[in-house]
Amino acid sequence: MSPFLNTYNRVPLRLVRGQGTRVQDDTGRWYLDAICGIAVMSLGHQHPRVQAAVHAQVDALMHVSNLYSVPVQQRFAQALMDLYGGPVFLCNSGAEANEGALKLVRKHHFLKGESRPQILVAQQAFHGRTLGALALTAREKFSRGFGPLPGGVLALPDEALAEAVGEQTAAVFVEPIRGEGGCIPFPYLKELRAACDAHGTLLVYDEIQCGLGRSGTLLQQPAPDVRTLAKALGGGLPLGAVVAGPHLSQVFEPGDHGSTFGGNPVACAAGLASLEEILEKDLTARCAVLGVQLRSALEALGLCVSGAGLMQAAHLEQDAGPIVARMRERGVLVCGAGPRAVRFLPAFTSTEEEIEEMVSALAASL
Ligand SMILES: Cc1ncc(COP(=O)(O)O)c(C=O)c1O
Repeated sequence: MSPFLNTYNRVPLRLVRGQGTRVQDDTGRWYLDAICGIAVMSLGHQHPRVQAAVHAQVDALMHVSNLYSVPVQQRFAQALMDLYGGPVFLCNSGAEANEGALKLVRKHHFLKGESRPQILVAQQAFHGRTLGALALTAREKFSRGFGPLPGGVLALPDEALAEAVGEQTAAVFVEPIRGEGGCIPFPYLKELRAACDAHGTLLVYDEIQCGLGRSGTLLQQPAPDVRTLAKALGGGLPLGAVVAGPHLSQVFEPGDHGSTFGGNPVACAAGLASLEEILEKDLTARCAVLGVQLRSALEALGLCVSGAGLMQAAHLEQDAGPIVARMRERGVLVCGAGPRAVRFLPAFTSTEEEIEEMVSALAASL
C-alpha cells in the first residue's frame, strides 16, 4: 500500500537536488526546470541570498506562534505594505489566502450592515482546494463529490462579469492571468473595477500564480481592493498572504481570523530575501523581456500562445500529456495547463539560451 492518500499522478522522476535553473534526479541526470515547483522558485533553486536568510533564521528562531511579535515577520509585512499599500494577513498557502480574503469580504459588508450573498468569479478560474476556495473555483472537475460547498458563487464568462455586478454582489474574485485555466489573461479588469466601484462591491485579485513579478508587472492595474499571494511569496517555503487595501485595515479584529503557522519566521526570512532580490534587481523587468523572447519563439513554431511574462502556455492541437513527457525525456520540465496546453513557468534568473533550450525541447517533442 502506498503511504500516501491517492491525490497525485506523479511522473516517474525522483528529484534530489536543485541548483539555479536546474534540478537533478536520483540517477544523477540534470533537468532544466521550466515550471519551478509550479511558479514557486522564481529565483531558481538554492538561491544563495534566500538560503543564507533561511540558515540564519533557523539558527535564531524557528517558531513562536502569533501570540508574539517576531522582527523578521514585521519586516516582511512592512515590505509587502510598502509595495502594495495596505496591511497583510500571513498564512501558509494559496487556498488559505483565498479563504482569508473571503472572510475579509464578508466581514466588510457585515460591518456596513449589508446583506450581500453573491460572489462572482470567472469561468475556468482556479482558486484552490479547500471548500471555500473550491466554491470559488466553480468547476465540476475539481468539486465533484465534495459538496455541499459554500453557496452564493456565480461563475460567468469573462465578458459577462462586469455587467452582472450588482447590489447583491459582495465581491468579484479574478486571476489577472488564469494559471490552471491555461495562462489566459482576464481582459476586462477596468470594466470590473468600474462596476465594483459603482455598486460598493470589493474586487479581489488572486495573484497567487501570476503575482510577484512573474507576469512582467508587479502592480496590476487598476488596483484591486484585496489581493491574494502565495507560491513564490515564501521563496520556496510555504507562505501566503491576504493583502488588503488601506480602507479595509480595520475590518478584522483580534479573534476574527488566525493561523498557527501563518507568517512562520523561517518562511518570512525566505520570503523577505526573495522579495528584496526581485525588487533590487528589478527581476520583474527581466520577466517581461524574457517573456517576449519566449512568446515569439513559441509563436515561431506556429503555436497559439497565451499569458504574459514568464507565465505562458502554448496551445496544442493534441493532448499535452505526451508532449510534457517527451520534453522531460529531453531534459526539460514543463507541465500542462488544461488538457491541450503546455505551460512554461521558468525562473526569473533564466538566461536567453535557457529560454531557447525550453522552446527547442518543445519543438523536438511535437
Ligand atoms: C491562481 C491560484 N490560486 C490559488 C491556488 C491554490 O494555491 P495552494 O495550492 O497554495 O493552496 C493556486 C494553485 O495552483 C493558483 O494557481
